[in-house]
Amino acid sequence: MGFKVAVAGKGGVGKTTIAGTLARLLARRGFDVFAIDVDPSMNLHTSLGISKTVARSITPISEMSDLIEERTGAKPGSMGSVFILNPKVSDLPDKFMIVGPDGVKLLVAGTVVNPGGGCMCPSNALVRALISHLILKREEVVILDMEAGVEHLGRGTAKNVDAMLIVVEPGVRSISLAEKIKDLALGLGVKRVFLVGNKISSEEEKYFIEEAASKIGINVAGWIPYDKNVIEADLADKALLDYAPDSPAVQGITKLQEFLVKELYT
Ligand SMILES: Nc1ncnc2c1ncn2[C@@H]1O[C@H](COP(=O)(O)OP(=O)(O)OP(=O)(O)O)[C@@H](O)[C@H]1O
Ligand SMILES: [Mg+2]
Repeated sequence: MGFKVAVAGKGGVGKTTIAGTLARLLARRGFDVFAIDVDPSMNLHTSLGISKTVARSITPISEMSDLIEERTGAKPGSMGSVFILNPKVSDLPDKFMIVGPDGVKLLVAGTVVNPGGGCMCPSNALVRALISHLILKREEVVILDMEAGVEHLGRGTAKNVDAMLIVVEPGVRSISLAEKIKDLALGLGVKRVFLVGNKISSEEEKYFIEEAASKIGINVAGWIPYDKNVIEADLADKALLDYAPDSPAVQGITKLQEFLVKELYT
């Protein structure tokens, strides 16, 4: 069974860049990899190197009204109505995935709407069931590009996430959110939680994150320098790995990948 990694953190810290590059590096190393886009901005395809034309044809599962109705027995948005909480989803990954460069499979799950509001509407039920299935039942290595929180993970699901990476950048805000995410994740039963320091441009910045990490009581799984190749790749609408394969940022993510394999692949 391949290990399961969730990538979380504050908006804009670099989750998608890291998740996509990591997925491809793991695939190059010989793992069968499933990359799951659970982020509302839904741009994991770019960092995986899947073209815009192909990406445009993807509908997130969370927006497939007919499918949601078929599987849950209720129309999306029909809050309060009776619907199936554990719909059948086992056929969906293979049906809706797209295979990208290096053989990475991409599934765009879409996000859970209004997670804080306790909304358990049909589309949320389907997305959650799908994520649970991917984590509990699939043989592949699974990399989840999440939004900030851990709302998508129920207790039964979280305990099968082998590691949660919380991406931080030098700055107080991403760190204090990281502490909250860590508490929630451990509370739900996630086995290991690590920080990843991204956009590091000096020893002081690294030190700042190291200090914060030890205060929070969490280890750092990897360091990724601030690298303008990441921004240039973004502007060129290319995957970092294709645009600048030897860049410092790719080197940092490669080390992170090595750390994860050592830590999680037994
Ligand atoms: N190591 C880095 N060096 C320089 N810029 C970076 C680095 N990592 C990410 N960025 C830039 O930061 C921005 C956000 O990156 P990315 O989209 O990967 O973050 P995210 O956490 O997924 O964001 P969102 O919360 O919007 O989904 C992008 O413009 C990207 O080019
Ligand atoms: Mg993102």
